[in-house]
Amino acid sequence: MTTHTDGIAPHGGQLINRVATTAEREEFLAQAEYLPRVRLDERATSDLIAIAIGGYSPLKGFMEQEDYEKVVDDMHMVNGLAWSIPVTLPVSEEVAEPLKEGNWVRLDDSDGKFIGVLELTQKYRYNKAHEAINVYRTDDINHPGVRVLYEQGAINLAGPVWLLQRDPHPLFPKYQIDPAESRKLFKEKGWQTIVGFQTRNPIHRAHEYIQKCALEVVDGLFLHPLVGATKSDDIPADVRMRCYEIMLEKYFPKERVILAINPCSMRYAGPREAIFHAILRKNYGCTHFIVGRDHAGVGDYYGTYDGQKIFDEFDPQELGIVPMKFEHAFYCTRTQQMATSKTSPSTKEERIHLSGTKVREMLRRGELPPPEFSRPEVAAELAKAMMQANGN
Ligand code: ADX
Repeated sequence: MTTHTDGIAPHGGQLINRVATTAEREEFLAQAEYLPRVRLDERATSDLIAIAIGGYSPLKGFMEQEDYEKVVDDMHMVNGLAWSIPVTLPVSEEVAEPLKEGNWVRLDDSDGKFIGVLELTQKYRYNKAHEAINVYRTDDINHPGVRVLYEQGAINLAGPVWLLQRDPHPLFPKYQIDPAESRKLFKEKGWQTIVGFQTRNPIHRAHEYIQKCALEVVDGLFLHPLVGATKSDDIPADVRMRCYEIMLEKYFPKERVILAINPCSMRYAGPREAIFHAILRKNYGCTHFIVGRDHAGVGDYYGTYDGQKIFDEFDPQELGIVPMKFEHAFYCTRTQQMATSKTSPSTKEERIHLSGTKVREMLRRGELPPPEFSRPEVAAELAKAMMQANGN
């Protein structure tokens, strides 16, 4: 593991900061009215933020064609660094057409607010089917990531970016801890080893189990729920964050855990996204990363452990963060505890595990998921949120 003055080295060796300085911001604001504009959707906005705060180090902007193609084809950038997910800014031909390479482009969010600048170095056409098959392992339009890909524009804009300013998150300002700050916090706490946890779902007993198994062997746990765009039937981030607060209050040793938001959007790219998620957490300063069952998967597109197997395609040195791989965890009625098939001899009938879909169905019917699946306080919070969403 390569070290750095503030713990583990960021990917590529240097933590990127692309938040405009005061002088740069003033210059951009002075030109704001005259620059051509591109409106970003939620994912592109979260990518801009992730680049600016160093979450995607060493990226300084949206990928140029050579990097894009190399990442899609063999999970590396032109400079040889491992990278598994293309980070691109796709726009329609009409939007791309008047933009000139070498010029600045003003980036607005979906409400039309000026949030960043792109120095346009390249615009290029790309092959969607090829990206779908390589990155998502399917070109099925029913896959939520593939659908986004097929619906997005045909031209990628590329080049370095600046974020105009780093605003506090409107919903979770106190959990907005950017990579430079998380690294500082880990150092202050004296943690040498930190395990990162990615999630887009409300916390359940299997999550808690693997988080705590990991915490038995490392110094600190970095709980890092994703709060960017998710598919419409995923539980909203505010509900998920409340569940985490409830859990931290009662079921976790607070001094060994940091809860922070991950600003990114989900791709549902399964194994490729597991690698991407690990690199992101390395940039936040984590030395280890939890990869459980069907990480970042959706439906039946990926094998249960594909998200773990893909780590074997890389030299551990080039990733630099250690995956902590966990088997499918369940509540075992024979041993009366959480377990996996590695630790319990139970039969299928003695195992309680519920899918997210099943839990949503129960909540919709007004039933609470059982304590073997979810802590009762979390179940109650989910039921309350479901009632409110249904207008009851
Ligand atoms: S994800 O899309 O962010 O991966 P989720 O929030 O459900 O979805 O999962 C967060 C992490 O917990 C992932 O590493 C996932 O593999 C792991 N995980 C979820 N449920 C289980 C389970 N029952 N057993 C083992 N690992 C699990």
